[in-house]
Amino acid sequence: MTILVIGGGGREHAIIQKLREDPRAETIYALPGNGGIAADAVCEPISAMDIPAIVAFARSHAIDFSVVAPDDPLALGAVDALEAEGIPCFGPRQNAAQIESSKVFAKNLMKKYGIPTARYETFSELDSALAYVEQQGAPIVVKADGLALGKGVTVAATVEEAKAALRDMMEGGKFGQAGARAVVEECLTGPEVSVLAFTDGETVVPMVSSMDHKRAHDGDAGPNTGGMGTIAPNPFYTPEIAERCMEEIFLPTIRAMKAEGRPFQGCLYFGLMLTPDGPKVIEYNCRFGDPETQVVLPLLESSLLEVMLAVREGRLARTEVKFSRKSACCVVLASDGYPLHYAKGFPIALPETGAGEHIYIAGAAQKDGRLVTSGGRVLGAVAVADTLPAAIEKAYALADRIHFDNAFCRRDIGARALKAMEGHA
Ligand code: AMP
Ligand code: GLY
Repeated sequence: MTILVIGGGGREHAIIQKLREDPRAETIYALPGNGGIAADAVCEPISAMDIPAIVAFARSHAIDFSVVAPDDPLALGAVDALEAEGIPCFGPRQNAAQIESSKVFAKNLMKKYGIPTARYETFSELDSALAYVEQQGAPIVVKADGLALGKGVTVAATVEEAKAALRDMMEGGKFGQAGARAVVEECLTGPEVSVLAFTDGETVVPMVSSMDHKRAHDGDAGPNTGGMGTIAPNPFYTPEIAERCMEEIFLPTIRAMKAEGRPFQGCLYFGLMLTPDGPKVIEYNCRFGDPETQVVLPLLESSLLEVMLAVREGRLARTEVKFSRKSACCVVLASDGYPLHYAKGFPIALPETGAGEHIYIAGAAQKDGRLVTSGGRVLGAVAVADTLPAAIEKAYALADRIHFDNAFCRRDIGARALKAMEGHA
């Protein structure tokens, strides 16, 4: 089969390496891919947002199956456009991708179908939003309606901070059209869990749970980032909680999307908070998470290609999706200064990887035959081992064998999970 993967980060590198394990995967193209993905797929410099160019490429390269990984092309209708040309895709159609691209849509869906989430109100007028914040008090959470590069959420400790966030987005146009409407919601507390799930619109099969580390620096300090590291499975996510999430959240969401005439096919990401009142949805993403994918897929023992085809063909219920009982850890190596200002263009020295070690490249380019840094998050050093402590140690040992100028990483990926396992989180 000739396969097309849309996207060009660490997540896409992990997806491509996993797809390649199936002997049916002959040629894999990545648009645009990156300098590291080029070792595993044929990369072409076509933007993931340029839907007409993607469709033209797919037509002229006899693509048998396509995977659309990032949120933006999904929200723009890349799957609809490719399917209209007869190219089967893994990923939701535009009307189902709205579960991520509009927080107002997602919140209203949860309210209508009784899916547990933070109490909220939506606003399209600044004055009423400000009055609501005043009346509710702090802490309180303010969210832009649309996609805002992961920066649209403010967890405000004070009423003033919440009001400033609302003014920035609804008056100052901080997130453009994405901030024209706002969701203001109750601040929840508890450990966070990411659960990615395969679904064909009828059946939902959760993958191994994981935990992201979003802040830039150790001890969850510093600005929010795209994710500085992950571990899987998440020790807070016990079998009892998993069962409850299936009954109260996963199945109701899939049924709700179907009932709304927006059946969801692809990978649905549940961002959950385990509150004292039970698990609640913090956010939905209509795609694989990054860097969650980098720890979840190495634990998948079944063929990813087969599972993706089963999702597309609506036969997930009859398809085995098997995960290893091992643990995995991903340590992101970033350019110093990320997520704000950073230098790039430094050569990257990669070591040989052994069993259970993976290096997924995110922000790197080929220049004069060498791999050089080209982004904030440069790569993920991933290790799989029998236990979580062993996976963490092995991932850091791998990270320490990778060199480029200006590199930095958090030193405490997995520390909170380890504490939870010792019983004093
Ligand atoms: P997001 O950009 O949607 O992933 O949200 C960023 C982070 O904000 C989440 O990972 C949570 O840590 C936090 N967050 C979002 N909503 C809430 C909420 N209702 N209560 C507490 N924290 C929240
Ligand atoms: N790691 C969070 C996300 O992919 O949105």
